[in-house]
Amino acid sequence: IIVPTDRFTLLPSNQPTADNIRDNILQNPGFGSHFTDHMAHVRWTLDTGWHAHEVRPYGPLTLDPAASVLHYGQEIFEGIKAYRHADGSVWTFRPEKNAERFRRSARRLALPELSDEDFIGSLKALLAQDHAWVPTPASDSDECSLYLRPFMIASEAFLGVRPAHEVDYYVIASPAAAYFKGGIDPVSIWLSTHYNRAAPGGTGFAKCGGNYAASLAAQKEASANGCSQVAFLDAAEGKWIEELGGMNLFFVFKDGRVVTPRLTDTILEGVTRNSVLTLAKDEGLTPKERAISIDEWREGAASGEITEVFACGTAAVITPVGELVTDNERITLTAGGNNEIAKRIRTKLLDLQYGRSEDKYGWLTRL
Ligand code: COI
Repeated sequence: IIVPTDRFTLLPSNQPTADNIRDNILQNPGFGSHFTDHMAHVRWTLDTGWHAHEVRPYGPLTLDPAASVLHYGQEIFEGIKAYRHADGSVWTFRPEKNAERFRRSARRLALPELSDEDFIGSLKALLAQDHAWVPTPASDSDECSLYLRPFMIASEAFLGVRPAHEVDYYVIASPAAAYFKGGIDPVSIWLSTHYNRAAPGGTGFAKCGGNYAASLAAQKEASANGCSQVAFLDAAEGKWIEELGGMNLFFVFKDGRVVTPRLTDTILEGVTRNSVLTLAKDEGLTPKERAISIDEWREGAASGEITEVFACGTAAVITPVGELVTDNERITLTAGGNNEIAKRIRTKLLDLQYGRSEDKYGWLTRL
């Protein structure tokens, strides 16, 4: 894809962060709390389509209080990272997958579709200004990156319930370390039995803010029970494992099968999920996409049939799951312990993303 970044007009910040302050942030960025000096923006109107491409100083948006996103939540977003390689160059991972998913989300939320050229072009145009914000990994297991957050909002001031005729697309960027405080230490997961995240025919497959809002009450329960994430079951039968709301799940069986729930319209298709399916095969494992029930998790954990469970996502990379906690039980893996497969796939993925191994699938795009 040829991406014309000159489509984006540059309005440079006149108060960029001082080098020493930025370097300080990059040493310990946490997740999602520091932002770079610029943001990309493209406007859409029903009459004109996409126009006014620009990169401008990062800062608060001016929105009419009647903007429909504030009332009806017509919004979608993406998550994608920029990685610094040893030679200083900056790359991103499978951006055309995110661009395609962004259009899928747009169709579901009745928002306008953005082309690959504008999606990838906006990342390039932003990085051309803020490349110094991409952290340099300290070691091969360091997963620091610049997390990029493209999003689209309905900005028309109109209280009628219909798709907005004015929409804005932005990309902001935030330096990131591991999503979980404990790094790759196994996390505890809470099983949501009172709340569902998505239902057939709904928006579960789309990356829209509403899905995440709908997960927060369950996330609150998780925290109150000492867990860092929530697992959701299907809404129809309350039996099938779907996802964690912000991450997909994988189950490793002792015979080398690596199983993840098959995609339905209630599961978000993760780019990391898709990549793990390919990398697992390269590792001599047998990836499978199929329905997996909570009973199978419980029984497989007890019998030793399931040896590992892990979560994956752009933000979380690959994080082992130590236990599943419910109202009245704790499901731990009898055969668990070293999470060797999760660590092996994680190393493969990071080596690829940071340019330490051959990019044999052509997954990297230079920013
Ligand atoms: C991502 O992995 O990029 C997400 O959108 C998930 C969220 C937990 C940050």
